[in-house]
Amino acid sequence: MPLPLHAESGAKAWLRYAPVKLAAPLPQRMVVLDKAVTVRSAAFELRRGLLSMTGAAPVSVPVSGYVSGLGLDAQPEFVLGTVTEVRKALPGWHAPVGLKLDGYALETFRNHGQTDLIIAGRTPRGVLYGTFALLETLGEHSELKQLQIASSPSAPIRWADQWDNLNGSIERGYGGRSIFFNDGHVRANLARVGQYARLLASVGLNGVDVNNVNASPQMLSPETIAGLGRIADVMRPWGVRVAISVDFRSPETLGGMKTFNPKDPQVIAWWRQKVNALYQAIPDFAGFTVKADSEGQAGPSQYGLTPAAAANMLAGLLRPHGGVVMYRAFVYNNHLDWNDKKADRARAAYDIFHPLDGKFASNVVVQIKNGPIDFQVREPASPLYAGLRHTNEAMELEVTQEYLGQARQTVYLVPMWKKTLDFNMHAENRDTPVKSIVEGKAFHRPLGGYAAVVNVGLDANWLRNPLSMANLWGYGQLAWNPDQSAEEIASNWARLTFGDDPRIVSAVDSILLPSWHVYEDYTGPLGLETLTDITGAHYGPAPQSAERNGWGMWFRATHTGVGMDRTTATGTGFIGQYPPKVAAMYESLKTCPDDLLLFMHHVPYTHRLHDGKTVIQYIYDSHYAGAIAAQKFVDEWKTLHGLIDTERYEQVLGIQRYQAAYAIVWRDGITRYFYKMSGIADDKGRVGHYAGRVTGAQMQLRGYSPEKVTPWEDASDGKAEVCRDQAQCTASTVLQHPAGVYNIGVQYFDLPQGASTFDLLLNGKALAHWTADRHLPGYKIDGDTSIRYLVRHVSLKPGDKLALVGHPEGGEPAPFDYVVVYPSADQSKLHN
Ligand code: GCU
Repeated sequence: MPLPLHAESGAKAWLRYAPVKLAAPLPQRMVVLDKAVTVRSAAFELRRGLLSMTGAAPVSVPVSGYVSGLGLDAQPEFVLGTVTEVRKALPGWHAPVGLKLDGYALETFRNHGQTDLIIAGRTPRGVLYGTFALLETLGEHSELKQLQIASSPSAPIRWADQWDNLNGSIERGYGGRSIFFNDGHVRANLARVGQYARLLASVGLNGVDVNNVNASPQMLSPETIAGLGRIADVMRPWGVRVAISVDFRSPETLGGMKTFNPKDPQVIAWWRQKVNALYQAIPDFAGFTVKADSEGQAGPSQYGLTPAAAANMLAGLLRPHGGVVMYRAFVYNNHLDWNDKKADRARAAYDIFHPLDGKFASNVVVQIKNGPIDFQVREPASPLYAGLRHTNEAMELEVTQEYLGQARQTVYLVPMWKKTLDFNMHAENRDTPVKSIVEGKAFHRPLGGYAAVVNVGLDANWLRNPLSMANLWGYGQLAWNPDQSAEEIASNWARLTFGDDPRIVSAVDSILLPSWHVYEDYTGPLGLETLTDITGAHYGPAPQSAERNGWGMWFRATHTGVGMDRTTATGTGFIGQYPPKVAAMYESLKTCPDDLLLFMHHVPYTHRLHDGKTVIQYIYDSHYAGAIAAQKFVDEWKTLHGLIDTERYEQVLGIQRYQAAYAIVWRDGITRYFYKMSGIADDKGRVGHYAGRVTGAQMQLRGYSPEKVTPWEDASDGKAEVCRDQAQCTASTVLQHPAGVYNIGVQYFDLPQGASTFDLLLNGKALAHWTADRHLPGYKIDGDTSIRYLVRHVSLKPGDKLALVGHPEGGEPAPFDYVVVYPSADQSKLHN
């Protein structure tokens, strides 16, 4: 019998604890052997989860009445405690060997004729992780028979970073305002912070860096430090430690000193006083993240000193308290000379940090972004992973989808991360997958792990798009165990988040699993990077923005060819930063994988890929294929109608419909751009020909006038129609379609400066009315703000008159690009 579908906001994420049909009874009692706060949370969570899933919560049996080795009256019990405590209580039980810090064991244990369920952690935090794992197992399998699970995290550092500002905004955050800060202060109400910590704990994450890497010096003011203490108090029960990002210039800007030289004794004394104050407020403070000498942030280079000098100074102060320094390798010159064919931003991290290998203190971790540039849709693994043998490393990822659709589009990132984690660096001519290096295994380093920029906000479902939560879940799963597959991570998430009906799991999988590749197809394939506006919102198509400036995200498109030559033979030499086997693979056109071809090589548009297709034709084809695939996500999602709650169903349907239409904006922008650059036509005749479209310029206009769009490729003929200095404007056209049923799309622009309204009329009669009040990224008429309104199933006959009436509002001149008409039955025509 289907379960009733309650409206759900998404706030519970994967911790919904949906009812399960128990295959076998569970213990009705529990014994909690430890008083640590995380174990108390574990007990609380166990009761909460079981009550919700099975309708009954186990009764807590006081430890005082619990006879060692025997349940009170020989009833089955849940037994929660550290390995040492459980061993004492159940002398016949043997803990699994090799449990690492934070690891846990889940075991069914026959004890005097009864079956106990043991949740034992190496540490109290492990008990909490074990409890979440047990509840997950129950949610996925509806039973807890013959449990024999031992699990340990891959690495000690498993952090979520937030780029929150004290004023409550979040840099590159898309799920609303900060849960931590508002108006310059730590929030009074931190309820959401507790819920976040619980979510993170449920996937084994153990630290949060709460503020922007472009840090405010005010993070170290006495008032903020006191507030951070309150944040830590709320997260501690979930085993999550607080860290902060610091501005290296703070001694000057906050301390009023004349210098921030890390060798200056007074500067060191200033930092010592701050570190002490932090540990007073937060005894288990986790440490600092440092972005220095990067994108305008000051750093040790000002004094001719290296990152090691800066990191070690801070590390020395944190070490006695058990804190670490996460020093970011995202250090590069953003004033590169575009004319210098040898200049290459991708080289920077290795060039700067490789010579410092072995010079960092033991509690410094060099935090390296997954790729050498900056969270683009596809990058090779950073060569720096193999470039440091005697230095702790952490991998930095982005859960927040900065260059990957900003949670307005669905992109499941686990397959992308897996690609990097599993990539074999062949360091020292042996198998050294990146994951083995960051975990510390490959080169025997004590510290290491993962930090992902998550940027949840106050929105009910944390990240805006319910499907984006698969990325947070997936990040936690991989940080715990990077050997899991993207498929199993997706399916487990779908089951817990939406329900275990196989139809649900299969539909969600069929959207998530291909979504990265689909996004790559309609944005920047072949290693071109995302091709978005790199000096703007990082959202819509704007390829040229990456070229001819100091930021170094170039792909060097000319009229004859495209791609960055990073070879050692003729290019920037970046490829030479990899160990020899990997370098050889990238250096040769024969062995360089197609998906990174243009990241590594500059080739003519007519260069043939491994399957014989030319580069230019691949660019066209992939964009069309990507747009079609994005449309299929809508159809997949629609199969869930009635199988999940209406609230989340409708929300995701809206997102998938928007994505399907937005993929067309991308497709058109990028294919037009490369058509103009290369002068080579699409051999399928699609680029530049859009059946069913009537552009503004082809309509009869009253009041509307054309305005140039930058970049030109984001609108038909590089122009939009705008209604300026008028109360309303009209654009009309006479349709000559054979009688039939059609969908009508209006491609318009939705700016934040106002909320224009539009009316669509057919032969003078109202067809649709809508308001352009979406909050899209960007602020001007371009690809960021281009959006489609679709009216489905309209009966048309030849000679019908279609009119679009725009009413400007605020600073928004009711701008539009074109209307498109295609038969309702012909889905493929949506792609026009
Ligand atoms: C990206 C991002 C910035 C961020 C930077 C960083 O460039 O756009 O907002 O500050 O990365 O990681 O430091």
